[in-house]
Amino acid sequence: MLQITLVLLVALWCIPSFATSRLRLPAVGSNPSDAVISSMSLTDQRRSDRFAKDGRARAIMVSGFSPVSTCRHSHLGAYMPPSTAKFEDDKFAAYGLPNGSFQSLGLQNCTTPGTPRPCSSGIPPLVVFSGALGTSRIIYHSMLQSIAAAGYLVVSVDHPYDADIVEFPDGTIVKGVEISDAELEGALSTRVEDIAFLYKELAKASLRKKLFPIDHYHEYRGGLPQTAIIGHSFGGATAASALQQLPYIRGGVNIDGTMLGSVLKSGLDLPFMLIGHETKTQETDPSWKTVWPQLKGWKREIEVKGAAHYSFSDLPLITSVLGLQERLPADTEQVLGSIEGRRMMKLTVTYITAFLDMVLRSGSEKDFSRADMEFSEVVNVA
Ligand SMILES: *[C@@H]1O[C@H](CO)[C@@H](O)[C@H](O)[C@H]1NC(C)=O
Ligand SMILES: *[C@@H]1O[C@H](CO)[C@@H](O)[C@H](O)[C@H]1NC(C)=O
Repeated sequence: MLQITLVLLVALWCIPSFATSRLRLPAVGSNPSDAVISSMSLTDQRRSDRFAKDGRARAIMVSGFSPVSTCRHSHLGAYMPPSTAKFEDDKFAAYGLPNGSFQSLGLQNCTTPGTPRPCSSGIPPLVVFSGALGTSRIIYHSMLQSIAAAGYLVVSVDHPYDADIVEFPDGTIVKGVEISDAELEGALSTRVEDIAFLYKELAKASLRKKLFPIDHYHEYRGGLPQTAIIGHSFGGATAASALQQLPYIRGGVNIDGTMLGSVLKSGLDLPFMLIGHETKTQETDPSWKTVWPQLKGWKREIEVKGAAHYSFSDLPLITSVLGLQERLPADTEQVLGSIEGRRMMKLTVTYITAFLDMVLRSGSEKDFSRADMEFSEVVNVA
C-alpha cells in the first residue's frame, strides 16, 4: 500500500513537468549562442513617482541579458511572469491570438554558464533598451536575447504607468495609465530619469553581478563598458533624449518612433540611426524631417518594406512560432506587417547589431553592406 502511494505520489509529482512543455522562441542571428536572463526591481529613493501621485519612490523593473560562449545547463523558462501573460493574452485576443498563447511560450535561459576561454575578450559592451508606450518590456525579450547572443550585455527597462503592465517580484502589479499628448514630454523626462538612475545603479559591482551574473568571470577595472541605446516607438524618442542628456552613451537607434523634445531643436553629435516601417520616412514624419539636418554624427535612415509598427518586437516571431501567422485577421497585418516572423526578427537583429558593432567595436560599416545584400526589404532612404 505504502509502495503504491509512493508510486502515485511520484507520478503526480512528475506530471507538471510534462504538462508545462513550452514552445520555445528561438534565438536568431549569424552566431546564436546562449544568454543568461535575469530580472529585478530597482527603487530610486531620491525621486518620487510622478504618475503614482502619492509621494512613493519611483520603482522600475529591468531585465538583464548576458552572452555566454558556452553553456553547461540551460532551462526553457516561462517567457512572461504569470500575471503579465494573462494580461497580454486578454489584450491580444483582439488581434486573433488564442487565449493562453503567451502562457505557452518559453525562452531558453542559460542557468549554468561554462568556463570562458582563458583569453576571452573582457567585458562586452552594454546596450540599453526602452520599448513603446503601453507595451511591456517582455514583448522584446526574444529580440534582446538574440542581440545579447551577438556579444552584448543588454538591459531593458519597464517604465511603470506608461507600460501597459509591470509585474514586480513581490507580486505588485502596476497597470498603465492614459497619457495624453500634453503629458508626453513629462513621460519622456521620466523615462530618461529612469535610465540615468539605472546607469548609476549599474556602477555598483554588486548590482552588476546580480543583473549580469557572468560578471565574476570578467575583471572589471573601473567604470562601465561602452554603451549604446536602442528604443522602439516612444522608446526611440527616449533613446535620442538619453543620448543628448547622458554623457556616457556613444550612439543610438530610434526604431519607428516619432521624435520629441529638445532633440528636435539642438540635434545630436553622436551616431544615430532611424529605422522605419513601410512608409514611415522623413517624407511622412515631420519630426524625422526636422531632426535629420540636426544629426551631425554618423547617420542613416532605412525603411523596411512589408513591416508595420509592431514588426519591431517579438510579436511576429510569436505568431510564427504559434503557427498563426497566416491565420490572423487581416487587420493584424497592419500592426505586425507581412514579413514572416523569423525573417523579420533576423532583419531587426541584423541591422541593430550592425549598428552596435560599428559604434561599440569595429568603427566600420561593413556589416551594413552585408545586411543590405541579405534583406531586399530594406530601402536606404538617407
Ligand atoms: C482566458 O482564460 C482564462 C482562464 O485560463 C480566463 O480567466 C480568461 O477570462 C480568458 N480570457 C478570455 C479573453 O477569454
Ligand atoms: C535564468 O537563470 C539564472 C541562473 O540560474 C536565474 O538566476 C534566472 O532567474 C533565470 N531567469 C529566468 C528568466 O528564469
